[in-house]
This record gives sequence, structure tokens and C-alpha cells, in this order.
Amino acid sequence: MSLNEEINKRKTFAIISHPDAGKTTLTEKFLLFGGAIQTAGAVKNNKITKTAASDFMDIERQRGISVATSVMGFEYKGLLINLLDTPGHKDFAEDTYRTLTAVDSVILVVDSVKGVEEQTKRLMEVCRMRDTPVIIFVNKVDLEGRDPFDLLDELESMLNINVRPLSWPISKGYSFKGVYDLYNSSLKLFEANKTKVVHEQVEIKDLDDPQLDELVGEHADQLREDVDLIQGVYEEFEDEEYLQGKLAPVFFGSAVNNFGVQEMLDTFVRIAPVPQPRPTDVRDIAPDENKFTGFVFKIHANIDPKHRDRIAFLRVCSGKFERNKFFNHVRLEKKLKFANPATFMARSKNVVDEAFPGDVVGLYDTGNFKIGDTLTEGEALQFQGIPSFSPEIFKELVNLDPMKSKQLDKGIKQLTDEGVAQLFIREAGSRKIVGTVGELQFEVIQYRLEHEYGAKCEFRPKNYFKACWLTTENEEKLEEFKRIKALEIVQDKDGNDVYLAPSQFLLDMERQNFPEIEFHFTSEFKTAGVN
Ligand code: G4P
Repeated sequence: MSLNEEINKRKTFAIISHPDAGKTTLTEKFLLFGGAIQTAGAVKNNKITKTAASDFMDIERQRGISVATSVMGFEYKGLLINLLDTPGHKDFAEDTYRTLTAVDSVILVVDSVKGVEEQTKRLMEVCRMRDTPVIIFVNKVDLEGRDPFDLLDELESMLNINVRPLSWPISKGYSFKGVYDLYNSSLKLFEANKTKVVHEQVEIKDLDDPQLDELVGEHADQLREDVDLIQGVYEEFEDEEYLQGKLAPVFFGSAVNNFGVQEMLDTFVRIAPVPQPRPTDVRDIAPDENKFTGFVFKIHANIDPKHRDRIAFLRVCSGKFERNKFFNHVRLEKKLKFANPATFMARSKNVVDEAFPGDVVGLYDTGNFKIGDTLTEGEALQFQGIPSFSPEIFKELVNLDPMKSKQLDKGIKQLTDEGVAQLFIREAGSRKIVGTVGELQFEVIQYRLEHEYGAKCEFRPKNYFKACWLTTENEEKLEEFKRIKALEIVQDKDGNDVYLAPSQFLLDMERQNFPEIEFHFTSEFKTAGVN
């Protein structure tokens, strides 16, 4: 098969949602359709439901784990679909943001009762940064949810994207009758059943068909009115606008009842983009370039604490990845080859000889990789667009055993290379400030430092509001700012200067005092910097 044929066979995407909206359930239904799993419940136990670190680590170990489910490949209608898993727990949001750099499109699940939630908004902002094409699935229409028109308005205004329904619910909750497929003008009737797919599809000529009244009774007129309104208010659906990330098609359904899922999957395989070009510091890399390139977007620690090797997840961006071939690790300027690269089909892990753009390969690593690292066939280029976001919680890392400071240094460096948290160093006194999205990471870090590195530590809360990466055209002013704010200036893992703003008020004040300086809440990972 030619490289182009391999590329055109692949679609790489992620399902994202606020916790509990139905991401796991939907993932499972997709895998059922793709024949990758046979029974419901197989993905479910992959969820982190408890919040204590030891529980988390135990769960990680028991399930033997997200390594196998980080990427779930399955075939559907002759295509190879790579579904990248994202952690549901909000404390691991940053991991999700990074995974989004490795996909070409996403499916966003929204709960029809709760509408747009906090995490929905943040995830969507990350998609908007890169104009990632989005399909929206409004889940749980079997419940007494919100009015669908209100939901569409909310999606548009809160997510800052145009929407276009491609299916429409007929009533909701107890009286939910099914969905009308606006694209194919067909009717899917609903019967609640969690174990098998029970729904009847009826082709109707048009909405004036009297069969409609027979089938949905009193709801037929409401449906006619709704569809009239939809056609008046929303523009025709254009694939091109979706591909540019400007328009999100919306489907209504119930994941747990397997209702409306296959329609969406069929649309997904028809319209979702194949592997796309990706920006580097030199030029955009097209997937059909002959030479291999790829980048690491996720690193997973080995579950066995005695072996400190890890698995680095690499997205292939162009050319062909080959087993046992030497590639160039750009940041380290080092040639590396991989004897046991793995790909993932549903829950099994297989050694592969080759992989193509859109694929994700797991590479065994003994400490060579950091998130954002690029591999090439020789060219010195660096993939971009893997941002670091300002953490929400900051704490100072305090060593409790001076005899173990080397172990602590090494441990915290490796854990932050994996992306568990961000490490900021204050030059004066080399104090270590750890920043995370949630409390859970501190417990995980403390637990892992002790169990994997034999280093005891504690964390002292720091009252910072945001980490701000600084840019300016006026170096003198920046130096002045850094001098005045020396106590709040730290370096990130790549040696970039970061200002830890104590509060919104003080940040606003600095913005006024130093209009020459720009304060950013996100940064690109610059892996070419200091180690
Ligand atoms: P998440 O991964 O986004 O966190 O959500 P998950 O799929 O775990 O779903 C969260 C809860 O919502 C689950 O219930 C799930 O069964 C339920 N759910 C998913 N889709 C639908 C739907 O279409 N309709 C209704 N009514 N519920 C749905 P749970 O009680 O947390 O778990 P379980 O005991 O049911 O497995």
C-alpha cells in the first residue's frame, strides 16, 4: 500500500467531556461497533473514581493499565480509527490538553440535563486554539433534559462556535420517542434497552408523511415545527466549515442505550479529517512527506516501581516509522532505535514493525524523552503547539530527608518530564515550586517519590494566582521587571522566565506598570531549551 493510501485509511481522534457526561460509555459503544470489544463494561473499570493517591495508584496497577487503553485502535468500514483516551478526572486535565495535540478531530460529549459545564468550556478552548474539527454529541436524551433549542444556543454562545444539528430529538425524558435524522430524512424510533441495539429505522418521504403521525402521535406536529425552525435558523451543513473548525455538527442520543451512536459514528467516518499537517519551528510537515517525523505527547510510567522505564507515546506525523531503524532525537542530538515499539488495538498491545501518520506508537524509554520531543530521520526541527498551561495550585516542595536530596531531585525531574505536574525553580536558593491542576497530583507525586525514588517530601501551599510566561520587544524593561519581582520570578523546565502572580489584582497592576511586557497564561513547550 502506498503512503498516501495508508494515510487516507486513518482517522485519529479523542472523545472529550466534562466528567460524567458519558465519555466512557460512548467510547465503549464505539469499540463495540468496531468489533474491538465484545461486551459492555470492558472500558468502564478504567475509570478513576476514588480520589486518594494510594487508591489511584492501586487502580493504576490493578488495571494494568491506561498504557493499554491510552490508544484504542479499531477498524470500521474499512478505515483504521485511532481513539486516544483522555483521563476523565479533572485533576488530569493537562494530560487531556496535551493529548489533543495528537489528534486530528474530537467528539465532544455534553450532558443534555447539565448543558455546557466548566470542563466542556476549557476543553473546547483548547480545540479552538488549533481549529480542531469538533462533532458534538448531546447525550442522555432519555432523561428530562433541557430544551434542545436552548442547548444549541448555549453551545454556540458558551463554546464560541457555530453549530448545526444533524439529528433532532422527538420529545425527551419519559416521552422520548426517537431522533429524526435531518441529513438522511429518516426516523429512528427508540426503545430503551441497555444490552442490545433495539431501534427501528423508518424512512419517511418527508415530514408531511402521515406515517409520522402514526409513529410518534402527538409529537409529530412539534417535530414539523422544530424542523421548520431549524431550517430557517441554521445554515446548511458544510463539510468544509467543519474541517476548518468553524462549525460543529450536533447529534442527539443516548450512549448508554446505544441510541444515536452509530449514526454519529457513520457521519464521523464520512466527514472527519484524515491525518493533517503539523507545524514545526521550521515549516509545516505534511503527512505524505517521505521522511519520518513524530513527536511525544504523553509519557507513562511503568507500573512496576522496581523498573523505572516508561512508555513514551509518539504520534507519527509523516513518512513511515520503522522498528530498529535509527532516528534522530532532535533535542538530544542523539540517534536512537527502538526494538519493541508497540501499537494498541483496543486493549491489547502489539509490537509493530512499521507505523504511519496518524498512528500512535509506544516507545520504551529509560529517560531520553520529555513531552514535546521530536524524532526525525535527520532534519533538525521541532514540533510546536504543545502548550503548557498555567497551573491552578502551587506548592513548594520541601525535602524531608537531606540524605536523599539527589533522589528527590531526580524523581521530581522525571515526574515532571512525564507531565504529572509542572516544576518551577527559583534561581535564588533553587527553591522548587510545583504547580498542578488539581490536589490529586500532589498526593500522586508524594506517593511516587517515596515508593519509586525512596525520597520523602512535603508540600507547603503557596498563594499564587497564575503562572505567567513573559514576552516583550523591550528587553531592558523585562530585565527591570525581573529585578523588581525577583522573589516571584521562576524558571520553567525549559529555562523560560515565568512570573508567579500572587493575585489578579497584582497582575493587573503589573500590566499597567509594564505595558511593554505581555503576560501569557500558556506557553509553548520549548524543548530546545535547558534540560
Ligand atoms: P464519563 O466517562 O464522561 O465520566 O461518564 P460515563 O460514561 O461514566 O457516564 C456517567 C454516568 O452517566 C454513568 O452512570 C452512565 O451509565 C450514565 N450515562 C451514560 N450515558 C447515558 C445516557 O444516555 N442516559 C442516561 N440516563 N445515563 C447515561 P453511573 O451511575 O455513574 O454509572 P453506572 O453505574 O450506570 O455504570
